[in-house]
Amino acid sequence: MADPIVSVARRLEGAFAAVAGGPCDPVVRPSDRADAQANGALALAKTLGLPPRDVAQKALDAAGDLSDMVESTEIAGPGFVNVVFSTSFIASELSVAMGDARLGVRAADDAHTIVVDYSAPNVAKEMHVGHLRSTVIGDALVRALQYVGNTVIRENHIGDWGTPFGMLIEHLIDLGEENAAHELGVGDLDGFYKEARRKFEADDAFKGRARNRVVMLQSGDADTLRLWQTLVNESTRYFNKVYTQLDVLLTDDDLMGESAYNPLLAEVVERLRTKGLLEESDGAEVVFPEGFTNRDNEPLPLIIRKGDGGYNYATSDLACVIDRVERLGAQSMLYVVGAPQAQHLQMVESVARMAGWLPEKYVMNHVSFGSVLGSDKKILKSRAGDTVKLATLLDEAVERAASAVAEKNPDMSESDRAHIAQMIGIGAVKYSDLCTDRVKDYVFDWDRMLSFEGNTAPYLQYAHARICSIFRRAGIERSSIRGGQPLLNDPRERALALRILRFDSAVWEMIDTLSPHKLCTYLFDLATDFTSFYEHCSVLKAESDSIRDSRLTLCDSTARTMEQGLALLGIRAPEQM
Ligand code: ARG
Repeated sequence: MADPIVSVARRLEGAFAAVAGGPCDPVVRPSDRADAQANGALALAKTLGLPPRDVAQKALDAAGDLSDMVESTEIAGPGFVNVVFSTSFIASELSVAMGDARLGVRAADDAHTIVVDYSAPNVAKEMHVGHLRSTVIGDALVRALQYVGNTVIRENHIGDWGTPFGMLIEHLIDLGEENAAHELGVGDLDGFYKEARRKFEADDAFKGRARNRVVMLQSGDADTLRLWQTLVNESTRYFNKVYTQLDVLLTDDDLMGESAYNPLLAEVVERLRTKGLLEESDGAEVVFPEGFTNRDNEPLPLIIRKGDGGYNYATSDLACVIDRVERLGAQSMLYVVGAPQAQHLQMVESVARMAGWLPEKYVMNHVSFGSVLGSDKKILKSRAGDTVKLATLLDEAVERAASAVAEKNPDMSESDRAHIAQMIGIGAVKYSDLCTDRVKDYVFDWDRMLSFEGNTAPYLQYAHARICSIFRRAGIERSSIRGGQPLLNDPRERALALRILRFDSAVWEMIDTLSPHKLCTYLFDLATDFTSFYEHCSVLKAESDSIRDSRLTLCDSTARTMEQGLALLGIRAPEQM
């Protein structure tokens, strides 16, 4: 096991349980005064009615000999147990972790099939910054969940069905298919959508055509379906451009839009009817999930089938649950969707459970997130007040990164610079999205995200690149110094080694809370610990060859952990910048 704090917690768990006469959490945390601190005696003392320091002592007695991992334990204050690891334990654990393909990160002991529903932009509509957040957060979660051994299925639930397609198809016909395809393919999705909507509102004849077209679409008219497919293809072509630029895992194979569930919708209605859950309300067929009320405290319905016979967004989401559980065998579903859809998803979950489609232990988790704000603290908008075009935003990130690199490293070749600017610019955008608690809003700030100082992607990437350059300058192959145990005589060496070993817990905290910012905070701490090590401990000019090699091992271990950590966030680590 890699994180020593987890190892010692496991040991103490047994000891505390012996004292408690049943399961008892030793509450082991990192500590400023020692390496770790066990606080469990305080709560246990209350239940046992004994002084906390006595309870702590009993637990230590029960733990027996910890000398294989611990140098000293001390009962402090009201009854904390301070733990200092033995340096040789840290050194040997580090060499084990660095010999492991997952750098010591524990594998999931309940590996299972997880669907991650993320990105999900809407056809013929610009992706907005909410879709950017969903894409970036979802992608990081996919990578981390896969890393620890789960089977992860990516699903991009694009909005590719519904009444707006009547007006969109008619607008496509008016423009001529080729012109329309061009407009969409270059990403002028918003212009296209707005013009269709304008005509729909201003022109009754157009409105009539649009309504008629919806009926043809729903009845499967071949030519209408072909036109619809053009809209979908051209839009996904644009989405793919953004995905490529954003360097995320999504491909066409992951597309699983609303339309994909059409064949299941009638069955959803039938199954709900058989279960006796379907009710009639204002001409529509609905289900009333328990516990949902409107402002007037009346029960809130989830509309399954509208009065005109059309199905709803909720209906396809119910079909989606059936498909994920029954066809894909998923036990867990993560919906990386903005906060405004919280109630929708809760109602869908509630109805799916009532219908028995979601067994008790299966989880449907809303991975909610806040908004991206402009410097005025309002939802980020373009200067003209429109939705920000993501492709343009990402281009700007790369351009800005290119000038930052040119300033820092004027001798770099143009092609190297272009390549590295891509990694830094995109990394900066992603990292600034991931590094704050996702449920909070954050302010989109070019200068801050591209700064080489502070909790930013460029700072972390720079720490990594700097290590690569140490090896480059010395002409030493990184793999050549691997395998040995580091000497950890300087406190900075020891602190860095312990930090590297905590990568395990950082990844798990991200997974357990579905919060990428936990890993970001860790990587920032890692870079900070590395900086202080590097300032105090000469590497290439070390006192002896063995110290030099040991420090090189620490450098290499830091770089590997940083690179892997950034990779789990979907961020590249260039070797020079
Ligand atoms: N297309 C939707 C939107 O842009 C998001 C879909 C989220 N996924 C889902 N299964 N409902 O708001």
